[in-house]
Amino acid sequence: MAHPINHTLSVPVTKSKTEVILALDVETQDQANVILDQVGDQLTWVKIGLQSYLRDGHKIIKQCIERDKKIFLDLKLHDIPNTMSKAIESLSSLPISMLTVHTCSGPEALALCAKTAEKCMPETILLGVTVLTSMNQENLRSIGVINTTEQQVITLAELAQSSGLGGVVCSPLELPLLRPKLSQEIKLVTPGIRPIGSEKGDQKRIMTPKEAEIAGANYLVIGRPILAAMNPANFLAKIQSELAT
Ligand code: C5P
Repeated sequence: MAHPINHTLSVPVTKSKTEVILALDVETQDQANVILDQVGDQLTWVKIGLQSYLRDGHKIIKQCIERDKKIFLDLKLHDIPNTMSKAIESLSSLPISMLTVHTCSGPEALALCAKTAEKCMPETILLGVTVLTSMNQENLRSIGVINTTEQQVITLAELAQSSGLGGVVCSPLELPLLRPKLSQEIKLVTPGIRPIGSEKGDQKRIMTPKEAEIAGANYLVIGRPILAAMNPANFLAKIQSELAT
C-alpha cells in the first residue's frame, strides 16, 4: 500500500544494467498517482497487472505514459491461439514495451502470438511466463505436473524461445539454469524479489535484488516490498544503488 506522504529522497540514485520494474498493484488510480509521484524520475519501468488494468484500463497506462514511464502490461494471456492473437491485436494501439503470455498456452499459441506481435506491436517484447513464482513443487504436483520445478521452467523457457518470444518470466532461482541455455537476446525478467527484511507474502521462490542481478536477471519486478515501504522512493533508490555496485 502506498503511503500518501511525499518523502524527500535522501539516497542518491545510481544506474545499473539490471533494471527495476515497479509492480503497480494498488487499490485505486489515486494510489497509483501517489506512488508514481513519490518515486519520480528514478523509476523508468512500471508493471501494470490485472488488478490495475481491469479497474482502470487504458487510463492507468496513459497516466504512466504522461510520467514518461515504460509500460510492462502483465495480462498473462492464456487461451486458444486465435483468441490470444486477437487480444494482442486489440492492444496494438497502446504504447506497451512488454506484454506477457502464459507459455503453457502451447507452441501454436505462442508462435501465433509472436507473429501477431511482430506485425502489430514490433517494438514490444513479448514475454512468456514459465512457472509462477508463487508455485512450488507441491503446487505443481497438485495440477498434475510431474517435472521438477526446474525442469518445467527450462521446458517452458525453451518453448518460449523456439516460438519466437523475446523473453521469459521466471523465478530468480532458475536464472543460473536458464542463462546458459537461452540466447543472450532473450530477456530474463524475475518477480519473486525480496530485499532482506521484506515480507515474503505469497512468493515462494525468492532472492534478494543483488543475488538476482548476479544470477543474470535483466529486469527485477518488485511490488509489495516497495509499495509497503515507509518511504518508497528511498527504498527503491537503495535497491538501485545496491544493484549498481
Ligand atoms: O508484490 P510482489 O513483489 O510479490 O509482486 C510481484 C509481481 O509480479 C505481481 O504483480 C505478480 O503478479 C507478478 N508475477 C509473479 N510471478 C510470476 C509472474 C508475475 O509474481 N511468475
